Amino acid sequence: MGHDLQKIGTERTCECSPKHTCCLSAKEWLKNQIGVWKFAYEKRDIRDKTIHPATYPISLARRIIEQFTHKGELVLDPFVGSGTTLIAAQDASRNAVGFDLSPEYIELCQTRLAKNKGLLSGSSQHAVCNDAHNIPNYLRPNSVSLIVTSPPYANLLNRKRKNKSRRDRDNGQLGKVEQYSQDPRDLGTMNLELYTKKIGDIFEGLLPLIRPRSHCVINVPDMWWENERITIHVSLIEEMRMRGYELRNIIIWDRTNIVNRIGIFGWPSNYITMGVTFEYLLDFWRPQD
Ligand SMILES: C[S@@+](CC[C@H](N)C(=O)[O-])C[C@H]1O[C@@H](n2cnc3c(N)ncnc32)[C@H](O)[C@@H]1O
Repeated sequence: MGHDLQKIGTERTCECSPKHTCCLSAKEWLKNQIGVWKFAYEKRDIRDKTIHPATYPISLARRIIEQFTHKGELVLDPFVGSGTTLIAAQDASRNAVGFDLSPEYIELCQTRLAKNKGLLSGSSQHAVCNDAHNIPNYLRPNSVSLIVTSPPYANLLNRKRKNKSRRDRDNGQLGKVEQYSQDPRDLGTMNLELYTKKIGDIFEGLLPLIRPRSHCVINVPDMWWENERITIHVSLIEEMRMRGYELRNIIIWDRTNIVNRIGIFGWPSNYITMGVTFEYLLDFWRPQD
């Protein structure tokens, strides 16, 4: 076990009834029963694609953390990127560990955590530079109460952007390869088939680390590739089921409030919905043994 993480807290520190699966009140729980969620980015969020190309909002990670854990429990993000999940965990007094292949992103996580640190959080958050395949070497079985993450998206980002949208021209993204790295272990370099298998291998390794009936929430979009819809969410659901997870909920992340101007595509003969207007939050759990 990585020595950094040996002492990390995993048990609830709240006064909730033992039967409750989270600290939410009935009223707060009721709000989350609606299956379409919307979030705004805040100042602390990283939206500059040159710093990290694909981040989700702190408020998204926080809502998932609060729905599925108690204060003091341990949250894991196997693809932590800029550290958004860790910041949300810090805000919500949950212990958390995040992993990423890139030393630059891990440094970014550490800088953000240090800047965000409250006075009396009583919890700790760690960012570790390693391949997600190796996470079982760091954490004990049945110690994690929630996995929340947005993995890379097969090799669809790994190409030059040709889309001449006004926004791309304005923000200098045109012609850029929007990719984390060319490291062969980076899931973002793989085709959909290999990617799905590798994701399956990683999550199969993580299953014993989470407790029975603990959740694993994965954020993914679908994509268009050469006029074909690539249903990443379908591949992921099938793979996760084969690896022992049970699908509990599909939540739609409605992004219409954060999408910049949309140009007209396909009119009048080829109807396609804009991928950027929504993404999936696939909620699995580890079934009771
Ligand atoms: C979509 S990003 C995560 C962004 C994050 N949710 C945020 O808000 O910053 C996916 C991350 O997975 C990392 N990654 C890719 N392959 C990996 C692997 N095999 N092990 C660990 N991290 C990996 C990439 O470096 C990238 O930062």
